[in-house]
Amino acid sequence: MPKNILITGGAGYIGSHTVLQLLLCGFKATIIDNLDNSSEIAVTRVKELAGQFGSNLIFYKIDLRNKPALEKIFASTNFDAVIHFAGLKAVGESVRKPLLYYNNNIIGTINLIEVMGAHGCKKLVFSSSATVYGWPKEVPCTEDFPIAATNPYGRTKLFIEEICCDVYRADSEWKIILLRYFNPIGAHPSGHIGEDPNGIPNNLMPFVQQVAVGRRPALTVFGKDYKTKDGTGVRDYIHVVDLSDGHIAALRKLFDSNIGCEVYNLGTGKGTSVLEMVAAFEKASGKKIPLVMAERRPGDTETVYASTKKAELELNWKAKYGIDEMCRDQWNWANKNPYGYGGPDSAI
Ligand code: UD1
Repeated sequence: MPKNILITGGAGYIGSHTVLQLLLCGFKATIIDNLDNSSEIAVTRVKELAGQFGSNLIFYKIDLRNKPALEKIFASTNFDAVIHFAGLKAVGESVRKPLLYYNNNIIGTINLIEVMGAHGCKKLVFSSSATVYGWPKEVPCTEDFPIAATNPYGRTKLFIEEICCDVYRADSEWKIILLRYFNPIGAHPSGHIGEDPNGIPNNLMPFVQQVAVGRRPALTVFGKDYKTKDGTGVRDYIHVVDLSDGHIAALRKLFDSNIGCEVYNLGTGKGTSVLEMVAAFEKASGKKIPLVMAERRPGDTETVYASTKKAELELNWKAKYGIDEMCRDQWNWANKNPYGYGGPDSAI
């Protein structure tokens, strides 16, 4: 019997790519998503891309804070595991609206874990973030580094990690994997699904792609005086398809081992500067990206990249793609869908 997986936030950027990989690997998938920062069109496209496996996908428009609705789904279906992506993720907005972030991310997660426990579904993969390393004392970041947060969004990730560990300590039937994502970029090579943020993008590559298609005049580079190779911030960019495969590896670990509550980095272990990313994107797209050099963005760190050893050793997973392939696929998605899943009228 194929395993049945519930994916919260499965219509979003990382969620939709992961659902596609799950279907292609023969899993059954049920998405719940409130479509707050995602589109049902992504779900339709995932179904199409999955071909013969598309019929193994079910979608419900539900908010995790609606506990009776969640109860109903768990009462009607036996899930073997849950991958929990759903959550708000804009750092600046979280500073302005902390309670919105605590309400949505923390209460949503507590509801989910309570309903899972009540129905005997005790295997969970949670989307955490490298943001919990704060400004790391050194690189590469290993999973045993102290964790810290500098904004409410980051605190929700940190708190949820701690909540998961406490849930396991209280009941050792739980198996939980916390995945700390570095910087996911790129898109499925088909160009049919990709990242489509609401409003002005906060993250580097969605902004670069909108400059490339003429939606924004120039990229503002935040900081040119970091102690890095060219003065701009260095990050560990990872292809979203590699990241999705990391979730499948985590699921297999949950099913095949006696893991308790464990954390793994999902990154490539390589650091790339803002200017190097822009150059790689210009090469992949043939488009010139005009730059405006500016001050550092408050809260930004200088250099962050992952140690990938633990995931390689214990999950048997390693990223395959480099930045040229990430930029190629990012451009393919942008070129085919300059306004994401919407039309020009929906764009700001
Ligand atoms: C950001 C968040 C992080 C979150 C992650 C989610 C902040 C401070 N950090 O990480 O908490 O988990 O996104 O995806 O927001 N850059 C520019 N111009 C831009 C945008 C970015 O120069 O318009 C630079 C940044 O200064 C940084 C690099 O590009 O050096 C990557 O930025 P970004 O994509 O926002 O990722 P993070 O800052 O790593």
